[in-house]
Amino acid sequence: MGERQVLRQTTSKHNPKNVVNLPMYVNPDKNKDSGNLRWILPYCKPDLPRVAGAVVLFCVNDAMALTIPLITGMLVDQVITQGHTERLVHLCLLMIALTIIRVGSRYGYQMWMERFGQNSIYRLVSDEYEKLHELDFTYFNHTRTGDIMSRLTSDTDAIRHCLSWVSYQIVDCVVMFVGALCVMFVIDWRLALALSCVTPFIFLLTRGLSTHAHPLFYAIRNSLASLNSMVEENIEGNRVVKAFVREPYETEKFDERNDDYMRRNMDLAYNSRRYMPWLDGLGFSLQLITLGLGGFLVIEGYMTLGNLVSFNSFLWMIDGPVRQSGWLINDWQRFNASCIKIRKLLTAQSRITEKPDARESVKQAVTIAEQVGGTHPPTPDRISGEVRFDHVSFAFPDDPETPILKDIDFAIPAGAKLGILGETGAGKSTLVSLISRFYDPTLGHVLIDGIDARDWPLTTLRSQVCIVAQDTFLFSDTIGSNIGFGADEDAARDERYIQRMAQIAGADSFIRSMPDGYDTVVGERGVGLSGGQKQRLSLARALADDPSILIMDDTTSAVDMETEAEIQRHLREMDGSKTIITIAHRISSVKDSDLILVLEHGRIVERGTHEELVARHGRYWDIYHKQLGLQSGASQGF
Ligand SMILES: Nc1ncnc2c1ncn2[C@@H]1O[C@H](COP(=O)(O)OP(=O)(O)OP(=O)(O)O)[C@@H](O)[C@H]1O
Ligand SMILES: [Mg+2]
Repeated sequence: MGERQVLRQTTSKHNPKNVVNLPMYVNPDKNKDSGNLRWILPYCKPDLPRVAGAVVLFCVNDAMALTIPLITGMLVDQVITQGHTERLVHLCLLMIALTIIRVGSRYGYQMWMERFGQNSIYRLVSDEYEKLHELDFTYFNHTRTGDIMSRLTSDTDAIRHCLSWVSYQIVDCVVMFVGALCVMFVIDWRLALALSCVTPFIFLLTRGLSTHAHPLFYAIRNSLASLNSMVEENIEGNRVVKAFVREPYETEKFDERNDDYMRRNMDLAYNSRRYMPWLDGLGFSLQLITLGLGGFLVIEGYMTLGNLVSFNSFLWMIDGPVRQSGWLINDWQRFNASCIKIRKLLTAQSRITEKPDARESVKQAVTIAEQVGGTHPPTPDRISGEVRFDHVSFAFPDDPETPILKDIDFAIPAGAKLGILGETGAGKSTLVSLISRFYDPTLGHVLIDGIDARDWPLTTLRSQVCIVAQDTFLFSDTIGSNIGFGADEDAARDERYIQRMAQIAGADSFIRSMPDGYDTVVGERGVGLSGGQKQRLSLARALADDPSILIMDDTTSAVDMETEAEIQRHLREMDGSKTIITIAHRISSVKDSDLILVLEHGRIVERGTHEELVARHGRYWDIYHKQLGLQSGASQGF
């Protein structure tokens, strides 16, 4: 079991509601400004002994590879030319033995390198995933899902390929080339010198290829991310596309991106085409030099035929690396482009961070609250539910010029019910997202139990403030698991508890009427359920979490009035310790609240109880009368 799993289990056992983020394998700030190889090294570190083993086997393999041609030369000279036929069997047996060792060692180091690459990538992907959980809404508002998916899949695979295969191929090429050339120098320096004349050309060509390939790989990678995003959006929004008969339009859009992806790949192919033939040509010139000059030296008696045969056997060792260098450089640049993208993800900064001493400072504040003797004194792990907005203004970080909330100032005690009413776009959802600290206020403070939301440990805050979001999201899992998603382990396993929560949310009866009841698997995002059913399930999920502050953002908008009234009755029957914040467009959803806020263009324009607001004959009264008219009209059959 990994070190991180152990930590998660210990944490959840002692404090199931307070599961901290798992530590990352590597601190993202480590080697932040260094090259890609140095950056990836800490991910590889635990497997470096395996790499050392692979290097030993690699050396054995290359030593065998360099020795076998020498024996071939001996065989020609001693057996064929000089007629020592008795040595034929020995030399053949020796060659067989060396070949077996070579094949065995090659297989061994390839397996070890594959394991090394897989393990390193495992750590890297885990860190990427962990980072995603750490990042805030602002990051996800800006980054396309397809782009994130590319970083987790194709980019990490490019790195795996480089670690597991390209790494030893490059070393192999260099060792083979230099080693073969050295042995060739020993055999015959004249021919070796002639062959080594091509080296500067190889260097120039590979450098040119590498420089041009880097931006091309980066562009390909971005184009693929954009293509992935488009496909991902279309799969998710397939119902909208079909409903609006926009298939041809979407296909056209897809074709554009697909064309772009193809064009960029072709650019890369053209770049390769500019260099590869020259590299291939250089490879061919090596053969030409060996046969031409070598043949001449043998004829003139400066070299034995055996040495020429040995030379010829060594030729593939310098010819292969020359031809392969172009492909390896492409792989290397793909590795670099992927590293840049993954490093950007890992070093992305979340605006919402926990103060390092959050736990301690909350403990101190709680001790003071206990001494003062509040009605529901909080504990460091349990919020009691008092909410106060102290002259809060807010603008989204990506649009700081447009204020969304302006001077919001109100307070509700723990266990109270707050209703928020307002036209669409007034800022209701934004207001409640500040309580969970999905964003921080631009001005002013949001105080939970008298402590600034920024001072609470994030896990405590988020596990105690539960938002039933406007756009319901369900996992493709059983209904029971969806409801128990946020609950601690014991509660999630307790069927009766899950059913009780479903009853309160008005979901029990429709769940029971489904073929497999609580074990019914819902499709992705709750496909197969009606809007009202999804809303009730997400309310049940929030209730199962047992939060101190329950926020319902338009949660019953798709539920009929009768069911809504029943849900509200159940909620009232629940213990009164929960602070409940209800955002709604219907007066009926908020009229029993202890305080109702009417929001307009990000400002509170009216506040009070239902009776006070009706008596005031203002904005609330207008809405009330319009809705009353509609309702009585509906009851009379209009
Ligand atoms: N991520 C964002 N970046 C920039 N502006 C945003 C973002 N999300 C929402 N807004 C803007 O903030 C304003 C308030 O949005 P909000 O979702 O809080 O409204 P709301 O009162 O909940 O509306 P509704 O009743 O339709 O749910 C809107 O004008 C919206 O355009
Ligand atoms: Mg909203």
